[in-house]
Amino acid sequence: MVVTGETRPHRDVVSFVRRSARMNPSQERAWRHHRAAYLVDVARGPMSTSVAPQAAVDWAEVFGRTAPLLVEIGAGNGDSLVATAAAHPDVDVIGFEVFEPSMASTVGKLAAQGLTNARLVLADGVQGLRWLVAPASLEAVHMFFPDPWHKARHHKRRLVSPATCSLVADRLRPGGVFRLATDWEDYALTMREVLDASPLTRVHEGWAPRFEERPMTKYEARGIAAGRTVYDLCYRR
Ligand SMILES: C[S@@+](CC[C@H](N)C(=O)[O-])C[C@H]1O[C@@H](n2cnc3c(N)ncnc32)[C@H](O)[C@@H]1O
Repeated sequence: MVVTGETRPHRDVVSFVRRSARMNPSQERAWRHHRAAYLVDVARGPMSTSVAPQAAVDWAEVFGRTAPLLVEIGAGNGDSLVATAAAHPDVDVIGFEVFEPSMASTVGKLAAQGLTNARLVLADGVQGLRWLVAPASLEAVHMFFPDPWHKARHHKRRLVSPATCSLVADRLRPGGVFRLATDWEDYALTMREVLDASPLTRVHEGWAPRFEERPMTKYEARGIAAGRTVYDLCYRR
């Protein structure tokens, strides 16, 4: 919630809706035992998923080292995030997710593999990028299968917007990459249009080849089962 003028409060448009945060027993177990190892607490704004302006995190202190940083926005159940962290022990991975049970699943997977190069922030990833990540500090940003928000009146909720792409561009180091995937053609086309007009440069002539490190998540499998094409996009600062 932001306050405009003296008295008129309004909510920021966000890319998610609040859902019941019920966890299954294995999520509860993971949350109870391993949350402290992976969750980074941040100063909040007015919503439980918001980040206070000027909240700051010293990532080198959090990870206990200085390493290339990668951010995933909307990490869901953590399949991609955990695979990335496992495949790149030399990279520190920060995941933003707003849905607590999904984050508990991610925590469980990180703990099962004993990974130490990933941390999670239960917050809106756009606000996280804005307030918790320094300009030109990221090796890569991942955004896989963001919610499509099909109805035209909901398009303003889509994560891929000119403002978000400018922010990503600013937070990437020169040469850093923004990777995205979606199984919704109209969103893919919009993503490409928005990103082509952003300060980032498209890496491939047409669509990017499927990012080989991206594991098949339930969203991709569901899209393929329904006969949809999966589109990958890759842009460089
Ligand atoms: C369709 S799911 C995809 C999850 C995952 N990337 C995958 O491929 O399996 C989209 C996820 O993004 C999360 N999400 C939506 N808006 C977000 C935001 N602004 N910041 C962080 N997470 C967000 C949702 O809670 C949901 O878990």
